[in-house]
Amino acid sequence: MGVNIPSRILTNADLEKMVETSDEWITTRTGIRERRIADYGLSASQLGIPAAMEAVEQAGLNPADVDLIVCATSTPEKMFPSTSCLIQKGIGAGECGSFDLLAACSGFIYATMVADQFIRAGSAHNVLVVASEIYSQIINWKDRDTCVLFGDGAAAVVYSSSSGPGGIVDSRLHSDGSFAEFLTAGGVSSRNPESAGALGNGGYFLEMKGNQTFKVAVKKMTEVSMELLEGNGYGPDDLDMVIPHQANIRIINAVGKNLGIGEEKMFVNLDKYGNTSAASIPIAMYEAARDGRIKPGDLVLMVAFGGGLTWGATLIRW
Ligand SMILES: CC(C)(COP(=O)(O)OP(=O)(O)OC[C@H]1O[C@@H](n2cnc3c(N)ncnc32)[C@H](O)[C@@H]1OP(=O)(O)O)[C@@H](O)C(=O)NCCC(=O)NCCS
Repeated sequence: MGVNIPSRILTNADLEKMVETSDEWITTRTGIRERRIADYGLSASQLGIPAAMEAVEQAGLNPADVDLIVCATSTPEKMFPSTSCLIQKGIGAGECGSFDLLAACSGFIYATMVADQFIRAGSAHNVLVVASEIYSQIINWKDRDTCVLFGDGAAAVVYSSSSGPGGIVDSRLHSDGSFAEFLTAGGVSSRNPESAGALGNGGYFLEMKGNQTFKVAVKKMTEVSMELLEGNGYGPDDLDMVIPHQANIRIINAVGKNLGIGEEKMFVNLDKYGNTSAASIPIAMYEAARDGRIKPGDLVLMVAFGGGLTWGATLIRW
């Protein structure tokens, strides 16, 4: 695994000077105390490349050993070329396959299942998954409903075929486009054909129906966790750690309560980074492993939720 998190910190106190909000409101409603912001102009591939390099090195591989690169991002460098192609060049990989995958905050879970399936099918041995997000560029910094929630960051994981113990047990993916308007970012796209018009008409920046999103997030993250556990003959008591998408402490606590899992088994680092979208789970995985919170042999559940709406879960025997 590897991470690359911008060094610039934006605290709740800093936000108090930008919009009508307070540290107390943000902390009690979300659990977030600060988030990281990438330097203006830094791109998703530039943020992702150091994380990818660290992951490849930690896996004991050379970049040329990577068979496939999947970049999970909803803030891609450009519409094309894909961010993953630029990461391929940036790390000096061979002419391997590469593509971007867009499932917003569920992107890492989606990319993990893709990697798992490529490896199980024998189509790849070493898959590099990079999650790189620069939400500071798609946020309306005048909108207090959303600007307090998100941050920038990147993380990467190499999945390899192995006959050894442990690994990805199973995953589940879901989506429901009838909730599409709950969480959107139009950018410059086929719906918003040029930037001036897109900005003028609204819809360019991230927009969210926070309350509705909150309720669906809790329900679907609980459901998919149970579906995945029961589908593999496990129950919540078998879990050693849950690494949930880091969106809001109240969502995490509600999912833990629904599953009957104590707070000590629900990994939380959103106080430091806010919601880094697809990067949130791999950043948390990295820190949980580094800090000894997850150890070889542990059963670890990762569960995410995001724009689409999308949601999904992965079970890993560490
Ligand atoms: C956004 C969220 C924190 C708002 O919390 P909430 O308890 O639902 O708060 P509400 O939206 O009901 O707003 C309560 C009040 O706080 C105000 N408010 C909103 N943002 C504020 C801010 N940053 N600072 C101060 N007040 C704020 C609202 O305007 C509202 O005021 P009103 O009562 O006068 O209308 C919460 O809904 C949430 O986390 N939703 C999920 C969002 C998410 O994680 N999305 C990503 C999923 S991947």
